[in-house]
Amino acid sequence: MQSDLGHFNSRMPRSFALFALLLLLLGSSSMGQTTQIAATPPMGWNSWNHFADKIDDAMVRAQADAMVSSGMRDSGYIYINIDDTWEGQRDAQGVIHTNSKFPDMKALADYVHGKGLKLGIYSSPGPKTCAGFEGSYGHEEQDAQTYAAWGIDYLKYDLCSFGEIMKGAGSPEAAHKMMIDAYTKMHEALLKTGRPIVYSLCQYGADHVWRWGASVGGNSWRTTGDISDKYSSMTAIGFEQAGLAKFAGPGHWNDPDMLEVGNGGMNEEEYRTHMTLWALLAAPLLAGNDLSTMKPETIAMLTNREVIAIDQDRLGEPADRVWAEGSQEIWARPLADGSKAVGVFNRFSWPQTIGINFHDLGYKGSVKARDIWAAKDLGALPSHYTARVAGHGVLLLRVSE
Ligand code: GLA
Repeated sequence: MQSDLGHFNSRMPRSFALFALLLLLLGSSSMGQTTQIAATPPMGWNSWNHFADKIDDAMVRAQADAMVSSGMRDSGYIYINIDDTWEGQRDAQGVIHTNSKFPDMKALADYVHGKGLKLGIYSSPGPKTCAGFEGSYGHEEQDAQTYAAWGIDYLKYDLCSFGEIMKGAGSPEAAHKMMIDAYTKMHEALLKTGRPIVYSLCQYGADHVWRWGASVGGNSWRTTGDISDKYSSMTAIGFEQAGLAKFAGPGHWNDPDMLEVGNGGMNEEEYRTHMTLWALLAAPLLAGNDLSTMKPETIAMLTNREVIAIDQDRLGEPADRVWAEGSQEIWARPLADGSKAVGVFNRFSWPQTIGINFHDLGYKGSVKARDIWAAKDLGALPSHYTARVAGHGVLLLRVSE
């Protein structure tokens, strides 16, 4: 940076150098809202999947405590995100207040920050959130300022009732523009606070959001409707991500919705498939379970360092499907060290033998592989390799030349 400026000074008139410096500073501040704050997919926890409208201040504190004591924080899970139903009424000046479940949001943020974690919140560009609480419509700047004053670090901005407003637009093009404008408005309001706040778009993947989400300042965008704690829901969402890899990268991620790992509706193999697919997809890893009552196997799954390393790989290139036949699928992503993460999925409920052709993955001869979930080096594998994969299960390999 210093030498760059020196360069400006020696070759350019002073006024031009100042102008260039200004551009540089402006550029870096808007980048602060995007690439730099989500250089890798955000990791943390969100209240909705497990607690929905029951969430309150005490439960959020308990999640923050458990995030630390379980070792999740030290594995990279940083955001504690309050979803819908924290909102109270606006006062005469239009300032949003919390409802009685959250007596003091600033104090809660201080508590969460004191644990080395960050706090996230939720709102809607519409007048009402999806659960019928107060949205930010017409109060975007005011709300962004309030969030910043509380010490909020992450905003999930959920379309909800704004969809009703869009119906009055007259044409699909006009409705689309209204949505773009609404998301841009909050992005600008967040920038204006000067506080780095991760901006998480949620409009269920409408209008190919992956094509424009980054241009409205989104650090992530939901690509689908809501997940539920079932294998059918999780896989419908996860495998539907084929073709979207090219739209994501450092600072702007596809978001196939929050994790259900540990909520009890899927078995161990199914949750392993969930975690593997999300890591391959470079998805935000937002745990959606009750962190204060986790079984050891849930903690082990959520904190598997080699799996997290794949999700968080600094190259930021998500996996795409490389092969599929019936209920068998292979997905792969390139990693920064030149190796590849390869997921071999069995979507059938019984065990199956699946053939992997490493030629299809760009390798010429035999490869070196590590079985990530088994934490075992497999040594050299032939270019055609067959694996037995459990029903609804997955084999996750890290492969190199
Ligand atoms: C929508 C979102 C969910 C959750 C709820 C809250 O359905 O997609 O993730 O935020 O709203 O009301």
